[in-house]
Amino acid sequence: MEFPSFDVSRLLRESSLQYVEYHQKLPSTNSTAQALLEPLLEQAPSLVLTSMQTAGRGRKGNQWWSAPGALTFTLVVAADDLSVSVERRPLISLAAGLAVRDALSELASDHEFWLKWPNDVLSGTQKISGILVEQHTLETRPALLIGIGVNVNNSLKEAPAEICLRATSLFDLSGHSSDLTTVLIAILQRLDFRIAQLTGQPRMALSDANRFHLLAGRSLCVQQGEERIYGDCVGIDEDGQLVLQCEDGIHRCSSGIVAQW
Ligand code: BTN
Repeated sequence: MEFPSFDVSRLLRESSLQYVEYHQKLPSTNSTAQALLEPLLEQAPSLVLTSMQTAGRGRKGNQWWSAPGALTFTLVVAADDLSVSVERRPLISLAAGLAVRDALSELASDHEFWLKWPNDVLSGTQKISGILVEQHTLETRPALLIGIGVNVNNSLKEAPAEICLRATSLFDLSGHSSDLTTVLIAILQRLDFRIAQLTGQPRMALSDANRFHLLAGRSLCVQQGEERIYGDCVGIDEDGQLVLQCEDGIHRCSSGIVAQW
């Protein structure tokens, strides 16, 4: 099977990356990033990148389906270098979602892309990108593993039945292929901007998260373990929590899955 290739020299030239660990095929870039954390953290910001991920992991133990042409990577950053306080680290995954939204909106300007709390990116009602942020500490150094999957040149027509109607790709939207290195650089550049914005202009970051939030004003059901919370979405607060107006008052969700919207 032919795997799409990346221009790693260009990637290093046009991003703030210090190192790229590329493999043609990997089970999961987040798992590889965890296994190689010491050298990756030493050279952070660094990237684990593959052309074909075979066992991608999603939030809450879900799987992430990939096919050749999808963009799957994990950015490793030293959490200390980010100047984002520990309490506000959940905002990093929102910032990552915004960065992907920004990049896709520029690359496919005929389409609108939205953030869906906590960090999915959708076109219409279909998911185009998922994000899994994990934190690991090496001795005393905390590292953030920002894993991002974007459906770029893979068509969802080839996806398992339970996914194909709920998801889309840039190829399915535009009818043409995109250069994967270009898409990746666009996302990494927006990610640098959005993470810097969290410290420099936190109000602007929050206002953008709410401006581009698909769930704003909708009636939702949020699943938190065994509990289901029903309410109208008021917005996302300064700690990255989803704020719901429920019959018995305001509820703030720091985690959970939006089961109905
Ligand atoms: C989700 O939607 O639940 C999150 C999906 C995250 C998938 C990406 S693909 C690259 C990185 N490696 C993984 O194993 N998962 C993330």
